[in-house]
Amino acid sequence: MNIKTTLLIGTLSLSLISQAQEPIQPIKPASNINLAMMELGKKLYFDPRLSKSGFISCNSCHNLSMGGTDNLPTSIGHKWNQGPINAPTVLNSSFNIAQFWDGRAKDLKEQAGGPIANPGEMASTHAIATSVVKAIPGYVQEFELVFGKDKINADSITSAIAEFEKTLVTPHSPFDQWLLGDKEAISAKELAGYELFKNSGCVGCHNGVAVGGSSYQKMGIIKKFQTSNKAIGLAGVTHKDSDKFMFKVPTLRNIELTYPYFHDGATTSLKQAVNIMGEIQLGRQFTADENDKIVAFLKTLTGDAPAFDLPQLPPSVAETPKPEPFK
Ligand code: HEC
Ligand code: HEC
Repeated sequence: MNIKTTLLIGTLSLSLISQAQEPIQPIKPASNINLAMMELGKKLYFDPRLSKSGFISCNSCHNLSMGGTDNLPTSIGHKWNQGPINAPTVLNSSFNIAQFWDGRAKDLKEQAGGPIANPGEMASTHAIATSVVKAIPGYVQEFELVFGKDKINADSITSAIAEFEKTLVTPHSPFDQWLLGDKEAISAKELAGYELFKNSGCVGCHNGVAVGGSSYQKMGIIKKFQTSNKAIGLAGVTHKDSDKFMFKVPTLRNIELTYPYFHDGATTSLKQAVNIMGEIQLGRQFTADENDKIVAFLKTLTGDAPAFDLPQLPPSVAETPKPEPFK
C-alpha cells in the first residue's frame, strides 16, 4: 500500500469515526421496496374514495406538497369535524418506534387502518372501504397482480399504503451532507446552532436518523406544558399514571415545513417552539442569538421531498358504491 492510499484510508476512517460519534445519522434512500405494491399504495394514499364522503384522502391531512402535514393546529375530518390533536408528518415516519403521538399503532401498516375507520377522520369502515375498492375494476386488476386473486381486504390495502409510506424519506438535507463529510454544506452559524443543540441537551431526546421518533419522553420535565389540549399521551394506552404526558418524541426532520408545533398545534413559530423546549425540558433560557442559531440549524434538516408523478386513479363504474358526504 503506498502512502497516498494509506492517507486516503486514514481520512476515510476518520470521517467514518467522526460520523459514528454524532448523535444524528444521515437518512439513507429507501431500500427493499416492492415497487408494484408501492405504486398501488401510492394510489390508495391519494384516493378519497376510501372515505365515507369520497372527499378525504390520506393526503388531505398529510399533504405531500406541504411537508406531509396539513399545517393546521388540529386536522379537519369528516363533516368538518375538528380533530383532537395535531397531525404529525408522514415523512420519515418509517423510522418511528411506533406510530401516533402515544404510539398506539405498532407500525405503519397497523396505523393505516386507523384513519379509514375513524368517525372523525375518513369515517368509513374497513368493510365499506374494501367493497369500494373491490368495485373499481382498475384496482381489481392491480391487486391481483400484486397480492393474487381475491385478495382485496383491509390487510392488503394497509400493506400497500405502508409500502408507499416507506418511500417517504427525505435524504440529502444540508445537515446530512455535512454529516457525510461536506463541511461546506452548512454555515458557521448553523454549525454553532448544532453545537448548542448538542451541548444544551436537545439530542438527549431528539437523536438518531429521524432526530426524534425513537423514544417516549415526558412533555414538561422541568416546567408544566401550558395547553388546553386533553391528550395524556402514553398513559392513554398503558393506563399507568407514570406515563401521563409521555409523548413520542417527534422527528425534527423537515421541521421548518411541519408547523404548527407540539401535539396541540398551538405554537406557530420555530423560534417559540425552541424557547418552550429550552424552558420546560431543560430549564434553560436561550438568548435571542442562541435561539437564532438553533433555529438556523433546525432548518438544515429539510431534505429532498419524495419525488414522483401524481398517480392517476382508476375510475369508478356504475356498480361502485357511492359516497355519502353528509351521513
Ligand atoms: C382527518 C385527517 C387525517 C386523515 C384523513 C389521515 N390522517 Fe394520519 N394522522 C392524523 C392525525 C391527527 C394523526 C395523529 C393522531 C394521534 O397521534 O393520535 C395522524 C397520524 C398519522 C401517522 C403517525 C405519524 C407519527 O409520527 O406518529 C401516520 C403514519 C399517518 N397518520 C398516516 C395516515 C395515512 C396512511 C392515512 C390514510 C389512510 C391517514 N394518515 C389519514 C390525521 C389524519
Ligand atoms: C426530555 C426530552 C426532550 C428534550 C431534552 C427536548 N425535547 Fe423537543 N420534544 C420532546 C417531546 C416529547 C416533544 C413533543 C411534545 C408534545 O408535543 O407533546 C418535543 C417536541 C419538539 C418540537 C416540536 C416538534 C413538532 O413536530 O411538533 C421541537 C421543534 C423541539 N422539540 C425542539 C427541541 C429543541 C430545540 C430542544 C433543545 C432546546 C429540545 N426539543 C429538547 C422531547 C424533548
